[in-house]
Amino acid sequence: MLKIGSIQLNNPFLQAALSGYTDYPMRIIARRFGCPLTFTGVMLDRISLHPKAIKQTKFHCLEDEHPVAAQIFGHDPEIIAQSAAQFRRLGYDMIDLNFACPVPKVLRRERGGWLMRKPDIVQQAFLRTREAVDCPVMMKLRIGFDHSEAAREDFWRIIDNAVADGVDALGIHGRTVEQKYKGKADWSVIAEVKKKYPKLTLFGSGDLMDAPTIIQRMQETSVDGVLIARGAIGNPWIFSDSIALWEGKSLPQPPSLPEQADIMLQHYEMINQERPGRRGVSFFRKFSARFAHRHPERKKVLLDFMRVKEPQKLRDLINQWYIQYA
Ligand SMILES: Cc1cc2nc3c(=O)[nH]c(=O)nc-3n(C[C@H](O)[C@H](O)[C@H](O)COP(=O)(O)O)c2cc1C
Repeated sequence: MLKIGSIQLNNPFLQAALSGYTDYPMRIIARRFGCPLTFTGVMLDRISLHPKAIKQTKFHCLEDEHPVAAQIFGHDPEIIAQSAAQFRRLGYDMIDLNFACPVPKVLRRERGGWLMRKPDIVQQAFLRTREAVDCPVMMKLRIGFDHSEAAREDFWRIIDNAVADGVDALGIHGRTVEQKYKGKADWSVIAEVKKKYPKLTLFGSGDLMDAPTIIQRMQETSVDGVLIARGAIGNPWIFSDSIALWEGKSLPQPPSLPEQADIMLQHYEMINQERPGRRGVSFFRKFSARFAHRHPERKKVLLDFMRVKEPQKLRDLINQWYIQYA
């Protein structure tokens, strides 16, 4: 049985952290499709220490979605650890430290991926966090800051320290920080890590857009599991498809249009609870654009979704394109 510390996972297909996406609605839908553990989008350590800010529902996890990991970033190991303790008090089951974010504003503030060049700070952040919480601690890395030899050395120092210090698991995105999301993810480095440390619980990430690719990457690299990111946006079937293949079954039939409508509406109505009115419709747009990929009239459906502003109009559109059309 796959485990991250005390958390048992009955399959290896995790919902990756996705800022702006993996709020409660996307997380709970992933769970309903069989995903055993989800992550919040990355949260700034300092914000969680602000008594007013932490009351906002966006920082909370809900009763029916456990286990869920709070992902945080910062610069100062002490603040990172205090923030981890705060999220633990809020009920999160695991802490994931982000050293992978490539956003320029984040790098300018010496957070996220910037720390791939600072193995000592990464190590201190992990050690302090582990002292501060009574739950598993994982780290999300990239394969280096860039492709230089110095970056490769820093990467391996981070890995060697993490293993020596007993990290519960690592998630590695097979691109450098400098690459952001460009080019193809390099899974060979992820495979090297698993080869060097077979006992390390390792999750790979990068270009996992469908279940057959996911299974292939797992077989090629021997990772314990994967973090499914963009491939899960508007596509929770990626979890049930992956589970089926992993269990040796054949790929399930694609969902019918009414089945897709049902999931879209479930997702939208949860967003509407947190962001009523036009705000929710606008927030749902990035999901509906991905849901539309499966529709035979994809372009027309997409155009309609891009234009819609009112909640009832959105529901009518889903009904028109996914129930009546079918
Ligand atoms: C819009 C977007 C937001 C992301 N937010 C986060 C984040 O908050 N934390 C994190 O560790 N990774 C984040 N990632 C990276 C993903 O978790 C994943 O590692 C990366 O997208 C590679 O996987 P993919 O090619 O299958 O999408 C984000 C990626 C995207 C595209």
